[in-house]
Amino acid sequence: MLAFPLTLLMALPFALAAPRCSVKTTSAATSAPTGSSSSSSPNITTSNTGGSNGTIAMSWFANWRTDFTVSNISWDKYTAVSWFATNPGNDPSTLDLANGLEEFVTAAHSNALMTVGGWDGSMYFSSLVGSSDNRTTFVNTIRDIAFSNGLDGIDIDWEYPGKPGLECNIVSPNDSANLLSFLQALRAATPNITLSAAVAVTPFADSTGQPMTDVSQFADVLDYIEIMNYDVWGSFSSTVGPNAPLNDTCASAGQQAGSAVSAVAAWTKAGFPSNKIILGVPAYGHSYFVSNANATGSSSTDATTGSLIAYPGFNAAQQPAGDAWNDVSGTDPCGNPQGPTGVYDFWGMIADGFLNEDGSVASGMASRYDSCSQTPYVYNPQSQIMISYDNATSFAAKGEFVVSNNLAGFAMYETGGDYNNILIDAINSAVGRS
Ligand SMILES: *[C@@H]1O[C@H](CO)[C@@H](O)[C@H](O)[C@H]1NC(C)=O
Ligand SMILES: *[C@@H]1O[C@H](CO)[C@@H](O)[C@H](O)[C@H]1NC(C)=O
Ligand SMILES: *[C@@H]1O[C@H](CO)[C@@H](O)[C@H](O)[C@H]1NC(C)=O
Ligand SMILES: *[C@@H]1O[C@H](CO)[C@@H](O)[C@H](O)[C@H]1NC(C)=O
Ligand SMILES: *[C@@H]1O[C@H](CO)[C@@H](O)[C@H](O)[C@H]1NC(C)=O
Ligand SMILES: *[C@@H]1O[C@H](CO)[C@@H](O)[C@H](O)[C@H]1NC(C)=O
Ligand SMILES: *[C@@H]1O[C@H](CO)[C@@H](O)[C@H](O)[C@H]1NC(C)=O
Ligand SMILES: *[C@@H]1O[C@H](CO)[C@@H](O)[C@H](O)[C@H]1NC(C)=O
Ligand SMILES: *[C@@H]1O[C@H](CO)[C@@H](O)[C@H](O)[C@H]1NC(C)=O
Repeated sequence: MLAFPLTLLMALPFALAAPRCSVKTTSAATSAPTGSSSSSSPNITTSNTGGSNGTIAMSWFANWRTDFTVSNISWDKYTAVSWFATNPGNDPSTLDLANGLEEFVTAAHSNALMTVGGWDGSMYFSSLVGSSDNRTTFVNTIRDIAFSNGLDGIDIDWEYPGKPGLECNIVSPNDSANLLSFLQALRAATPNITLSAAVAVTPFADSTGQPMTDVSQFADVLDYIEIMNYDVWGSFSSTVGPNAPLNDTCASAGQQAGSAVSAVAAWTKAGFPSNKIILGVPAYGHSYFVSNANATGSSSTDATTGSLIAYPGFNAAQQPAGDAWNDVSGTDPCGNPQGPTGVYDFWGMIADGFLNEDGSVASGMASRYDSCSQTPYVYNPQSQIMISYDNATSFAAKGEFVVSNNLAGFAMYETGGDYNNILIDAINSAVGRS
C-alpha cells in the first residue's frame, strides 16, 4: 500500500495538502493504559493518558492555518490535541516549533501534545536517530522543549522508518531499530508525559522493508500509536477508491489496499495491544475528475439519478484543485514541482456546494455509500468531480469499530477540517462520549 501517497498529505505546512499521516494525537486524563514497562525498562507511570474502550478523543491541530486558529478549537470535544507539527531539520539540537505554541498550551490546559515530524518533516529522522550521539542530543532537545513548554505529551510522526515518504527523505535499513532505541531513550527521559507515534496501516518496516512481525517492544515504551487510516486511495491510485476504508477484507483482491480492519489486525498480530491503538480518522476527502460514463459505468446512464460504481477510472491529468486550503502548486519540500492535491476538507465540501450545511448531500449531486469501506462518495455530474470522503454516518461506523475492538480511541486529522463539529460529534457519540 502505499508506496507513497505522496501527494498527499501530511502536513504540509506548506501548502499542500493535508496532512495526513503525521500528525495528530491525543489526550489526557486518567490513568493510562499503562504504558509501559517491560523487563528492561524502568517502571513508567504516565500521568495523562486516557484508556481503552474509546476514551481518547484526539485531534491534530494544523498550526499554519490563518483562518482556523487556537481560538477556534472546540476543546471540550477532545481529550487531547496535538500541535502539528514541529519540523526537525538535520540538526538534532534544535526544532522549529512554529509560532504560537505557548498560546496553544495555555488554551489546552492538560491536553496539549506536540507532534514532531509529519509528511514534510521526516526528511532527516533517519540521521537524527542514526547514532547513539544523535539520539541522545535529539532526546534532550525534545525533553527540554516538552518540559519548558508544559507539554503533556510528544507524538512522533516519522513518515516512514525504513520506507520513503517524500522521495528525498533519508532512509536506512536500520531505521526501525534506531527508532526503537530513540523511543526507549525518550521514554526514560520523559517518564511523566504521554508518548505516542503516528504510524502507517502496516507495522514498521524491518531491515528488508517488510512489516515487522514483532513490534511489542514499541508498545512497551509508547502509550499509543495512531494508525493513519487515510490516503489509502487518492490521486496517486489507479482508480477512484475509498480514502479511509473501515473495511477492505470484503473488497476484491485488487482493491484490498488497507483499512481499519486490516490495519488493526496487522498491528495486533505483530504484538501491539489493541488498547494502545488509536484509529486515525480524516475530516477530509480526495477528489478526482471522472466522466459521467466512468462514474456510472455506462454512457447511457444519467449520472445524476443512476448509481455510482465503486472504483471508477479517472483522468489524473485533470486533477481538481480541492478546497481553498489546497490551492497549492509550486514545489514540494524536495524541490519537485507539484500540482494540486485535490483534498477537500469536510467544511470545503459544504463551501463548494457538494454538501448542505448539515452535511447531507446537496441537490443535483449523485452519491453512494460504499458498503464494504463504509464510506460515502459524492459526484457532481456538471463539474465531473467525484470525492471519496467521510461524513457523520461513516464517522459513527468508525467509532463503533473503536469500541467493539477495544481500541484506545480515535484521532482526527485535522481539527479545522470539520464543520460545526458534525464529524467530531458523530464519532464522540458513537464511542459513548456525549
Ligand atoms: C515496578 O513494578 C513492579 C511490578 O509492578 C514492582 O514490583 C516494582 O516494585 C516496581 N519498581 C519500582 C521502582 O517502582
Ligand atoms: C472495555 O470494554 C469491555 C467490554 O465492555 C470490558 O470487558 C473491558 O473491561 C473494558 N476495558 C476497560 C479497560 O475498561
Ligand atoms: C474562528 O474564530 C474567529 C474569531 O472568533 C471567527 O471569526 C471565525 O469564523 C472562526 N472560524 C471558524 C472556521 O470557525
Ligand atoms: C548525526 O547527525 C549529523 C547532523 O547533525 C549527521 O550529519 C550525521 O550523519 C548523523 N549521524 C548518523 C549516523 O546518521
Ligand atoms: C514532567 O516532569 C518534568 C521534570 O520534573 C517537569 O518539568 C514537567 O513539568 C512535568 N510535566 C508534566 C506534564 O507533568
Ligand atoms: C546498521 O546497523 C549495523 C549494526 O549496528 C551496522 O553495522 C550497519 O553499518 C548499519 N547500517 C547502516 C546502513 O547504517
Ligand atoms: C469486514 O469484512 C469481512 C468480510 O466481509 C466481514 O466478515 C467483517 O465483519 C467486516 N468487518 C467490519 C468491521 O465491517
Ligand atoms: C475514464 O476511465 C478510463 C479508464 O477506465 C480512464 O483512462 C479515463 O481517463 C477516464 N476518464 C475520465 C474523464 O474519467
Ligand atoms: C453519508 O453519506 C451517505 C451517502 O451519500 C448518505 O446516505 C448518508 O445519509 C450520509 N450521512 C449523513 C448523516 O448525512
